[in-house]
Amino acid sequence: MVSRIIPVEDFDLVIFGVTGDLARRKILPGLYRRFVAGQFPPGAAIVGTSRTAQDDGAFRQDAASAIRDALGQGVDEARLAEFLAHLRYVALDVRGETGWDALAALIRPGVIHAFYFSVAPGLFGDIAERLAKNGITDGQSRIVVEKPFGRDLASARALNRTLARYFGESQIYRIDHYLGKETVQNLMAVRFANMLFEPLWNAQYVDHVQITVAETVGVGGRGEYYDHSGAIRDMVQNHMMQLLCLIAMEPPYHFDPDAVRDEKLKVIRALEPVAPRDIVRGQYLAGPDGHGYLDDAENPASRTESFVALKVRVANWRWTGTPFYLRTGKRLRARTSEIVVTFKEPPHSIFDEAAPRANQLVIKLQPNEGMHLNVMIKEPGPGGMRLAQVPLDMSFAEALGPDGTDMPDAYERLIMDVIRGNQTLFMRGDEVEAAWAWTDPIIAAWEAGQIRPEPYDPGSSGPEEALRLLHRDNRRWREIRA
Ligand code: BG6
Repeated sequence: MVSRIIPVEDFDLVIFGVTGDLARRKILPGLYRRFVAGQFPPGAAIVGTSRTAQDDGAFRQDAASAIRDALGQGVDEARLAEFLAHLRYVALDVRGETGWDALAALIRPGVIHAFYFSVAPGLFGDIAERLAKNGITDGQSRIVVEKPFGRDLASARALNRTLARYFGESQIYRIDHYLGKETVQNLMAVRFANMLFEPLWNAQYVDHVQITVAETVGVGGRGEYYDHSGAIRDMVQNHMMQLLCLIAMEPPYHFDPDAVRDEKLKVIRALEPVAPRDIVRGQYLAGPDGHGYLDDAENPASRTESFVALKVRVANWRWTGTPFYLRTGKRLRARTSEIVVTFKEPPHSIFDEAAPRANQLVIKLQPNEGMHLNVMIKEPGPGGMRLAQVPLDMSFAEALGPDGTDMPDAYERLIMDVIRGNQTLFMRGDEVEAAWAWTDPIIAAWEAGQIRPEPYDPGSSGPEEALRLLHRDNRRWREIRA
């Protein structure tokens, strides 16, 4: 299946913090790939800014090496040279007053203007204010802001208020890169473009749902940031919440940004507060390399969690009675993100020899994107009716042919959506605030109780207590495997 490339309208994209890690690892390589895919109009301009004093030539050289580092063999040097011709550079300190005129001079009238704030959230307000004050932005400009969007409800509200001083909600693109992942969007296609699942998608037929985002890496060089966040702020409040919303939401009346986001918001608002006994926090111990979380965080007294598992209830007509179990952690057994929908067992077995087991729909987000539906069949051969559970397997790479393996990275898709003006895969301000309103009491309870996370071994599935969270309900986690 050949994917269709639809070029976007002519644009100027300004990246603040262009020498930073995100720009070098994701944004610039992603733009290069979209350029090669044929999505750029001929005049498209990318303007990088940072405090570093350098000219266009030096910036282009640095961008080229970032792209080569990120994409390795995937870089075509001739195409890279063509791409680099679209890049310009302006040195400016976002808290200073110089450089803005030079930036303004590069912005072309009559094309789409997008401003990517790839900087610490503490600088968002400074950039917004100076862009407006210098007449660089207008009512048509778009801004892209990265996570973390606040660290609690109060700070997220304050940030929303600051941005609202200069930009309307329809101009603000809050990135959650999980929403840009191919299979995450597939959740909506699977649910709302098929008749097969939706009639069963409720508490009457679904026993429970598991959402797992497991990583093998530790917090490594990000120890300082991470130690102030922990798994709940870093992964649950945003990425996992979005996955939960896409699984639990009602069908929107149309695939339209606000219709989709309205439905997601209703799910977040329907979440019950989580009781302390329904949460397990973990922190990884030292592995063979001798480095545990406390070393990585450079804080021997840290109580920050690198793993969290929780049982979540969505209190509405569709889901009351069906728990959602979420777990995420660093330095676990394998890197895998998946959603498992376990259906109820058939109400009555007509077979004497074996009882049917519950069907499971496994949606694999990464790696090896695909879907597996575990169904019961008769074991082949004579000798009675023996049952076996087998997977109906679909790997997207196989189903979609060679092009299916070359899926755009989440950032590529999301940046092109900004240029197209499509906010469906971006979080709205009220959604982010609602997610914090649910997360804040969890964090407050931990802080008040001064609770230490449970230790777990690197390479394991997390602390034993996380297994018990499901055993208590006569259920078990699906094994963490790639
Ligand atoms: C980021 C988190 O948002 O997502 C990281 O800050 C995490 O801690 C990363 O490793 C996971 O993203 P992905 O795309 O690798 O699953």
